[in-house]
Amino acid sequence: IPVGPPDLTKCQPATDAETKLHVNCCPPTYASYDIFDFKPPPQNSQLRVRPPAHKYNSEQLAKFKEAVRLMKALPDDDPWSYKNQATIHCTYCNGAFNQAGSNVLLQVHGSWLFLPWHRYYLYFWEKILGKLINDPNFAVPYWNFDNPEAMSMPTMYLDPTSSIYDDLRNHDHYSALLDLNYAYTDKGNPTAEETAKIIEANQSTMHKVFEATTNNPELFMGKPILAGEAVNETSFGSLENLHNTLHMWSGSTVSPYHNMGNFYTAARDTLFFGVHGNVDRLWDYYSRNRDYKVEFNQEDWLQASFVFYDENHKLVKCKVKDCLTPQSLGYTYSVEKQDNARVHR
Ligand code: C2O
Repeated sequence: IPVGPPDLTKCQPATDAETKLHVNCCPPTYASYDIFDFKPPPQNSQLRVRPPAHKYNSEQLAKFKEAVRLMKALPDDDPWSYKNQATIHCTYCNGAFNQAGSNVLLQVHGSWLFLPWHRYYLYFWEKILGKLINDPNFAVPYWNFDNPEAMSMPTMYLDPTSSIYDDLRNHDHYSALLDLNYAYTDKGNPTAEETAKIIEANQSTMHKVFEATTNNPELFMGKPILAGEAVNETSFGSLENLHNTLHMWSGSTVSPYHNMGNFYTAARDTLFFGVHGNVDRLWDYYSRNRDYKVEFNQEDWLQASFVFYDENHKLVKCKVKDCLTPQSLGYTYSVEKQDNARVHR
């Protein structure tokens, strides 16, 4: 039996994994708990193209900042509000719901649910932002952290006067070189030679995430989890483990590691959605290099479902089978030079 949406009327206190304190991550009370089936967008429509943050142009950036500003101005009881959108992450990460009909917590990390759930999360966030600025083609940026040209915190997120800024970050990393092997120790001011070494190590770390997982999606995506089952430390996929480093590297170095370094608060920082854009793109990259062979054929994956609040103010139930490619959700990623060779065969 596949994992499905929780009983939305039974929200409970969530737990901050770091402090072990109870936190409230319940969604706002909805006017109606009617859940509709998600309908993927028509397949003939124009694809929204998500660009990398370091190439986002000033017009795109102005739109993005305006959309986030409008989202931040919404009242707290609006499911579209920035606060509620950010809280969704805590809801499904920190145990605000049990799985329906069970006393096991609903957890979207650490298993084969990680990539599809975050794909949908980002999708609705983008659609709602597009609605707020009346631009159905609006596309969010992604932090292209696997590209040596983008191995630093994208500057667009660093302007303290903008709506996409968050001060609860590691300020030492505002102009530092990204270290994909970071474990809360910085290498200080690296020399040119050390810089080259870090970049090389980053690239080899990226390579390892893909190498040896091509024919073994469990290692890349995360292990299967069925209704009533809990995840554990060994069920994480290699892409999720890599992405955890991005969270650690971006957030504060002091416990409880707000915002990015703690899953309870991570999505409060707009940078979160930049990291997840690239995580989603790397899943797409993985799929394309397997000629879109579906990662898992099991109905327990394809029929697994989540509930989100959509851009039309409706609760929708979304199945994994409907988000297997970005194209199926009406968007794509701009092709950057380092993957040209493999994409256009
Ligand atoms: Cu839900 Cu980056 O984690």
